[in-house]
Amino acid sequence: MKFPIEETIIKRSSIRSYESKKLSTSDKEKLMDYINNLSNPFNEKVNFHFIEKGLEPKVEKLGTYGIIKGATSFIGVSVPDSEFGLEAAGYEFEQLILYATHLGLGTVWLAMTFSRNEFMSAMDIKKDNLFPAISPIGYSSEKKTIKERLMRKMMKSNQRKSWENIFFKNNFSSPLAKEEAGDYKIPLEMLRLAPSATNAQPWRVIKEKNMYHFYESHKSGASKEDKSIKRVDLGIAINHFHLTTLEYNLSGRFEKIESKKSENNEELNYIISWISE
Ligand SMILES: Cc1cc2nc3c(=O)[nH]c(=O)nc-3n(C[C@H](O)[C@H](O)[C@H](O)COP(=O)(O)O)c2cc1C
Repeated sequence: MKFPIEETIIKRSSIRSYESKKLSTSDKEKLMDYINNLSNPFNEKVNFHFIEKGLEPKVEKLGTYGIIKGATSFIGVSVPDSEFGLEAAGYEFEQLILYATHLGLGTVWLAMTFSRNEFMSAMDIKKDNLFPAISPIGYSSEKKTIKERLMRKMMKSNQRKSWENIFFKNNFSSPLAKEEAGDYKIPLEMLRLAPSATNAQPWRVIKEKNMYHFYESHKSGASKEDKSIKRVDLGIAINHFHLTTLEYNLSGRFEKIESKKSENNEELNYIISWISE
């Protein structure tokens, strides 16, 4: 089930307006097969939950605060409350979203604008698990609602931070120029195109020799919820980076370098490193 990664990452964008027709059996089967083969570099168990309107009574009135129009199917993601659960959820769910994009389906990550309790009950998610997000999944409608257009404008969804604000060399005071990234220019560029909650783009990467260290950045005094969503964002971005290294046959491995955690401060959390080989 290989599909073109760079092309799909460039093509993906959040879809909030859907045609009200059901997912075809063939698309549904492909998604379920794909889910069964997902894994993540954080070695956490990620669970997926699929629900469809018309089949289950509890699903009929599920709330998305008027943000999503026409969707009939939703997928949710849950993980045990473990150290890297949220990053793992971000990583695997984004891979599924990219695959859905490749199949021609529309999706949008929803971590805030949905009724979490209603979906938790409809999706039978265990109370002690983390339930970071859902996405509608279906056929994109040609016509975007005014709300959707306004949201995109407000969050500047078509824009991303520039290289020098995200990628660094040896420490956070020297930006990494594109030319200095060598073979990793495209994996980093694909990371830069990742979606993130409110388009905040909290990913920071330091290149040090043959290593790329990934950090999550937030404002000092950020709420627990804000920091949690940003960990999901990191998982998403790391997925884009990793899938692109695989597409370009760049070999390497992820490693959590324990000593790096001592660099954490009020605004920064070290997550994981990629060691190129
Ligand atoms: C973890 C996460 C949570 C998000 N939560 C919401 C949400 O609750 N409601 C919403 O309308 N969009 C949500 N989004 C979508 C972002 O606003 C969107 O990805 C961003 O503006 C960039 O636009 P793009 O996905 O079209 O590239 C979320 C995205 C991510 C990655």
